[in-house]
Amino acid sequence: MLGFPEYSAQAKGLARAAGLNFAEIEVHHFPDGESRIRLPEHLPETVFICRSLNQPNEKLIELILAVSSARELGARKITLVAPYLAYMRQDKAFHPGEAVSQKIVGNLLATFFDALITVDPHLHRVHRIEDAVPIPLALTLSATTAMSSYLEGKLEKPILIGPDEESEQWVAAIAQQNDLEFYVARKLRFGDRDVSVSLPNADYRERHVVFVDDVISTGRTIESAIKEIQPYQPASITVMVTHALFAGDALKRLKIAGANEIWSTDSIPHPTNRIELAGCLAQKLMAL
Ligand code: R5P
Repeated sequence: MLGFPEYSAQAKGLARAAGLNFAEIEVHHFPDGESRIRLPEHLPETVFICRSLNQPNEKLIELILAVSSARELGARKITLVAPYLAYMRQDKAFHPGEAVSQKIVGNLLATFFDALITVDPHLHRVHRIEDAVPIPLALTLSATTAMSSYLEGKLEKPILIGPDEESEQWVAAIAQQNDLEFYVARKLRFGDRDVSVSLPNADYRERHVVFVDDVISTGRTIESAIKEIQPYQPASITVMVTHALFAGDALKRLKIAGANEIWSTDSIPHPTNRIELAGCLAQKLMAL
């Protein structure tokens, strides 16, 4: 298992859970912005490269340098473990002339890697990961099992809410595992930072409310949902998210809006990380 420095703790944890040796990839950034990558001199035939692809542009180039060098150094089967997979949302040209990034980045990864493991990729119109990344073996796993276990026993009879239709799959899975009540809100998006969420009618008063989503980027979705729930005076407001992108002032906005707790998985390193994915990723990886 090879890991990049900014994701070393998670990659090391995954290697430990899967019983693999670990080595950190050395990355040097030259003053002109180019990167130099250095791998261990001798590599076995099977290699995993672990890197989450938030803030992806520079990371993608370094990943290509690493996987190409790994082949030169003896690796034959190389699996990318990318808990967060970038560029999955732009799955069509919304305006004439726009790049269909999902297809381009998916093809790029498929050119260099033999297999891919990722967590809850944000797929919309393209439903299957193998259609987004046409690679011989593409596996996804859901963070909902780890999230359910983390939630268990933390709050008394919480109500789970997904902020939009897409979140139903995750909120329903967590609710089912813990036998909890759940609702799905409706979302209207007018722009990157302009979102309005309307909650279904329910008795949220004095209840512990947990918002569940796969991604928090600008935080506007959850911020709007929190503002909508406040008039019901819930006992507490918790936010549970898989991929903690938290762009700009997102975290601050959620705290100001009234989030008492924010729990994220470690798919992306962030101060809100509470839920480790190493266990479920290792199971997937050992089943390869
Ligand atoms: C959208 O479909 C996703 O599930 C998230 O709700 C969305 O990406 C969150 O974005 P933001 O934090 O920028 O509102």
